[in-house]
Amino acid sequence: MRRPAPRLEYYVPQNGGSVADFGECARRGLRGPKKSLDPRFLYDERGSEIFERICSLPEYYLTRAETEILERAGAELASMLPPRCRLIELGSGSSTKTRIILERMNESQGAVTYSPIDVSRALEGASRELLESYEWLSIVGVEDTYESGLRLAHSACGGPALIAFLGSSIGNLTGSAARSFLSTVASVMGPGDLLLVGVDLDKPESALVPAYDDAAGVTAEFNLNLLHRINSELGSSIDVSKFAHHVVYNAGERRIEMYLRSLEGQEIEVCGSRIGLRRGELVLTEYSHKYTREGIESMVSSAGLRVARTWHDSARRYALVLCSGA
Ligand SMILES: C[S@@+](CC[C@H](N)C(=O)[O-])C[C@H]1O[C@@H](n2cnc3c(N)ncnc32)[C@H](O)[C@@H]1O
Repeated sequence: MRRPAPRLEYYVPQNGGSVADFGECARRGLRGPKKSLDPRFLYDERGSEIFERICSLPEYYLTRAETEILERAGAELASMLPPRCRLIELGSGSSTKTRIILERMNESQGAVTYSPIDVSRALEGASRELLESYEWLSIVGVEDTYESGLRLAHSACGGPALIAFLGSSIGNLTGSAARSFLSTVASVMGPGDLLLVGVDLDKPESALVPAYDDAAGVTAEFNLNLLHRINSELGSSIDVSKFAHHVVYNAGERRIEMYLRSLEGQEIEVCGSRIGLRRGELVLTEYSHKYTREGIESMVSSAGLRVARTWHDSARRYALVLCSGA
């Protein structure tokens, strides 16, 4: 009897999502006069579950727009890939939209190797579900941050790769951080590699704010979950009811800013540091930058890449940008 080759390899490096890393980042972020928490910590298992609910909210158009583009342009995208191309995905989450790309790649090239990279433990369950659906798929997953996960995934298998960065996650980075992030990705890319980036386009505040402050309060639950996570993983006893979800659109910077607002003067303790918060004081938890066509071109070219093809959804709210080495 022949044993089938294992189709799932799974790397969990030491530092990416460790408690020590979370504690140190949280303590540092909350110490200064401008308080912030790194958005990657929004995604523990519960955060990832809540994010999936956000994706189907009526106000959150981003997932529907990106899905529409992938359904329409998936076959063309697959036809532009070199033979025996693998798929690496940064911040893969539930890999739901990825299924469209994987299926089109399978139609055009047969067996596919997929490397999902995510800080969230949700990665493992998502990988197992994919393997149950597709007998032609092999997975080399990495539970780590984008950059170190990419280096590991890229060197773990040979051959050309499509690197996907979906869900408008590029928008979480400020302009200079996005350029430097894309330069890092470009430095890892080999000849024949391509990069596919999902970018949310700038639009009126009246459409943007509800997408991050929905009527059912699901995004509020997602944001406040970060405080529950600090309590459960770092042993704090923050009274979560003394904070509120707070969203503004900063037109000058073309970005949604998501905060936790302290509802009263209070003191919290995180990893042995006592942190005072004034009534109304804001803790930044996420930026979501919105782009113009010129902004996308300039970001991509300053990273040493070239836009090979751009697709839009029918309402032109969102862009999928395929980039190659310059
Ligand atoms: C906005 S969600 C997008 C998920 C999925 N790609 C989609 O389009 O629906 C961002 C994903 O990236 C992961 N993530 C956030 N920051 C990360 C980081 N610095 N490194 C690796 N993964 C990260 C989160 O756990 C989450 O699954």
